[in-house]
Amino acid sequence: MCGIVGYIGFRSVSDVLLEGLHRLEYRGYDSAGIAVMQEDHIAVRKRAGRVNELSQAVKLHPVESKVGIGHTRWATHGETTDENSHPHLGGNGEVAIVHNGVIENYDSLRNQLMEMGYVFKSQTDTEVVAHLIAHHLAEQTRLDSEEPCVATCLRAIELTLDRLKGTFGICALFQSCPETIIAARSGSPLVIGVGKDEFFLASDASPLIGYTSDVVYLADNEIAVLEPNSMKIAHRTTGSVQPSIQTLDQVSADIELGDFPHYMLKEIFEQPQSIANALRGRFDDGEGTAVIGGLNLTAQQLRTIDRVVLTACGTSWHAGLVGEYLLEEFARLPTEVEYASELRYRNPPITDRTLVFSITQSGETADTLAAMRECKRKGHPTLAICNVVGSTIAREADGGIYLHAGPEIGVASTKAFTSQVTVLTLLALYLGRMRHLSYPAGKRIIKQLKMMPEKIEEALKCHEQVQEIADKYSQFNNFLYLGRLYNFPVALEGALKLKEISYIHAEGYPAAEMKHGPIALVDEQTPSFFIVPRGGIQPKVISNMEEVKARKGPVIAVATEGDREVERIADDVITVPDVEDYLQPLVCSIPLQLFSYHVALLRGCNVDRPRNLAKSVTVE
Ligand code: M6R
Repeated sequence: MCGIVGYIGFRSVSDVLLEGLHRLEYRGYDSAGIAVMQEDHIAVRKRAGRVNELSQAVKLHPVESKVGIGHTRWATHGETTDENSHPHLGGNGEVAIVHNGVIENYDSLRNQLMEMGYVFKSQTDTEVVAHLIAHHLAEQTRLDSEEPCVATCLRAIELTLDRLKGTFGICALFQSCPETIIAARSGSPLVIGVGKDEFFLASDASPLIGYTSDVVYLADNEIAVLEPNSMKIAHRTTGSVQPSIQTLDQVSADIELGDFPHYMLKEIFEQPQSIANALRGRFDDGEGTAVIGGLNLTAQQLRTIDRVVLTACGTSWHAGLVGEYLLEEFARLPTEVEYASELRYRNPPITDRTLVFSITQSGETADTLAAMRECKRKGHPTLAICNVVGSTIAREADGGIYLHAGPEIGVASTKAFTSQVTVLTLLALYLGRMRHLSYPAGKRIIKQLKMMPEKIEEALKCHEQVQEIADKYSQFNNFLYLGRLYNFPVALEGALKLKEISYIHAEGYPAAEMKHGPIALVDEQTPSFFIVPRGGIQPKVISNMEEVKARKGPVIAVATEGDREVERIADDVITVPDVEDYLQPLVCSIPLQLFSYHVALLRGCNVDRPRNLAKSVTVE
């Protein structure tokens, strides 16, 4: 949540910052701002609203230089006003900062600073940090009785950080050191792009793409001092750090819309490719198993595992539910799926024979990270299923599996979900083949998995049909999503997609649970989406459909091609290709993603930037 950028070098800083903020806008889009070094002061431009509005403001009142910082905000403390937008100035403008995270003790610090005479212009927790840095800078300068130099500024930052409780990624500019940016992190991500005679800073690598592929991921408790020709990094307790430069493998096309009107639609249509990427190189045909290289546990250790805990939030949690069914069916491993926000404060009995997996697209979700750290603290190996290479969770996990889905920019997760399910299928196959799953069964699963990119391509052919159905139902205000077994998590995910981008109330339930309460909601104004492909216990789900029809509830069904019985009962049917039960979440999710996309468009919602949300939830 919130995106930070910074630049120091030889380019026009406003252009670099504004472009970077556009790329980071998915992290928060309540307001945006930049602070730019001028000859004798720090100039700030900031606006409530989208980065485009900031760009307009900068066009009207240009600021130019080669050093600056910027921010796109997801509001935590204080409304979305110009004053609450970042950057914030400290003291009388001696320092400017941008901040991602939450300062938990801001209230008491604010009172102390007010008593000392500092005047606050915003309601944010961040302004406290800005004034505190200014205060320590003044204190240090008095002690040294000289003009502040880089070492003084650094000391002021260190003294400030010592007093903060909470999480932060911070970038700071100092009026007295116009050729310096200081950045620090604890809990919120920061990556440094290393160019020739220039450095970039950002919350994730997307603003760096096209400028440099050399990056340094700042670790927690590290502080970086950047000058046009030098980068120094130190750990707050252990001292100087030799930066490890890594290579980004993303290209500009990964983050461009191309011919698509929205990232969400682009990402839905990328799924044949993203699933192919998740599968690539991960089959051992000879042994009828999966190749999972990064777990960093021996086969012997994996064989002794007797329980799996999957922890995640939101869509990733839904993928975890599919994972539970897969791991129990293929590997006979008792599996629990825990909301990370709950797990972090619970104390469940996890033993050294429990495998804990964090599932996360971004690798930055605060609750998932905290749950993982909690398990780590107790000595359990922690593994991650993650998309973003170099993210905090990917780096802190003891091992894991990357999705290779490419950047997911739309706030509503689509391709990451199907890639997570694909990877969990591979994991279940792998652990299954170490246990009870036979060679022919393993071979069969591999064969089915290999067909998935093609099956998803086929599933996407429902696009026009879904558009028509969206047209028919877009004005309804309540929906039920119902499915059983592997399609129960699909129902939850379908409902979440509709809620988050169309702002329509939707509930996902196991179809049979409907009779225990939600059926009371059914009437002519409450359509039910049934995920009812052939196989498994389909006849039971068909009975549930009949029950809804008997109460005059409109029924939309996601069904297998040519299923006459479903066609007879449902008001509208969207067809998907025939696949085995455990792969149905992959094909059945496609029409639900497309439905929520089109309904959101028809209702005039901002599909890629839904209200109140942000892509990476880096606050608790
Ligand atoms: O990056 P993560 O997978 O950890 O994110 C978890 C959730 O915040 C995320 O899936 C959220 O629910 C999405 N907006 C759903 O579309």
